[in-house]
Amino acid sequence: MDKIEHLREERKNIAKTYSSKKIKDTYIDEVTKEYKDVLYVKVKKIIEETNDTKSFILVPDIEKGIKELPPFKAGQYISVRMFIDKSYTTRAYSLSSSPGDTSKYRITIKRVPNGLVSNIMLDEVKVGDGLTISRPTGDFGYNSIRDEENVLGIAGGSGITPFMSLALAINEGIENCNLTVFYSVKTEEDIIFKSEIEHLNKHSKKVKFIITLTREEKKGYLNGHIDKKMLEPYIKEFNTVLMCGPKTLYKSMNEVLGEFNIPRKSVHYENFFVDFEPNDNKTYELKVIMKNDFKVIKCKSNETLLVAMENAGIKAPSLCRVGICGYCRSVILEGKIKMVGGNMEKALLENDYIHPCISYPESNIVLRLDI
Ligand code: FES
Repeated sequence: MDKIEHLREERKNIAKTYSSKKIKDTYIDEVTKEYKDVLYVKVKKIIEETNDTKSFILVPDIEKGIKELPPFKAGQYISVRMFIDKSYTTRAYSLSSSPGDTSKYRITIKRVPNGLVSNIMLDEVKVGDGLTISRPTGDFGYNSIRDEENVLGIAGGSGITPFMSLALAINEGIENCNLTVFYSVKTEEDIIFKSEIEHLNKHSKKVKFIITLTREEKKGYLNGHIDKKMLEPYIKEFNTVLMCGPKTLYKSMNEVLGEFNIPRKSVHYENFFVDFEPNDNKTYELKVIMKNDFKVIKCKSNETLLVAMENAGIKAPSLCRVGICGYCRSVILEGKIKMVGGNMEKALLENDYIHPCISYPESNIVLRLDI
């Protein structure tokens, strides 16, 4: 029996013996780690969710030796890897399918103005195309050890994707919590997973979606941005808040949740953006030292070191692109950077480690990559 099979068998036995989610989740992590970092998948189906959003059903690319997909936890994401012209880049997308079915993954992508990978996915990728992805990763989602059983979800636009995965997991008995999701979209036409949401609202006792339309009034929906008045009738029921959506949603919701005195430790965010906008416009030299090679490239002060390396065709490692996963961690040998973040980033920098995905140059730089 190979190692993965062995872990699976063990996991099944442990799951049978104990009901503790901690043990089950630990085993998912261990099984997932047995899979390679890079997976090859094929697009089996493309579903038009709205005018600007499509879901992609991904299955293992058997011709490339991938027999199965790793298990995942609701809320995790995969990173799609692409060569575009001569640049290599990655983008993280939450899995929106049920973790109960790992014969396929579903990712759901919304058009982003000037977006690169998302728009290529929407405009160019067809059924039958091959894609390169990472194995599932990320900590967002329900954590039975950390969280209480009543969960409030706050989603904006395509931020609904991890909540759909969690809702399906709850409905199938894989996760054991009650979930109410406030979902904000502009108009009824912008509702992603409309029929799945209606189905879950009708049939699930533990899952409820409340949709608010910010740009039109329609029967059956709330109207306006999620605010204190909307949450007030429900807020006492919840002990844990999960949020996924645009920056503006987080800012307004933090103010609202502050008014309800919800402790910060009970609020968890999925983060797909870096909250920093450099305003100067200089160009520096970036020397990238790899295991068997080096390259000297240009890096603008308003782009991250990761983006500069990608634009120069360097296959720099990345997953989350927002300083969380640690996958891009590299050593700065010379130079000064601005690394966006808090105390953890400061401590890293004191030891000459940086995350290029959130680091902007403030001088010429010498960087060592572990590739
Ligand atoms: S890619 Fe995740 S920390 Fe940089």
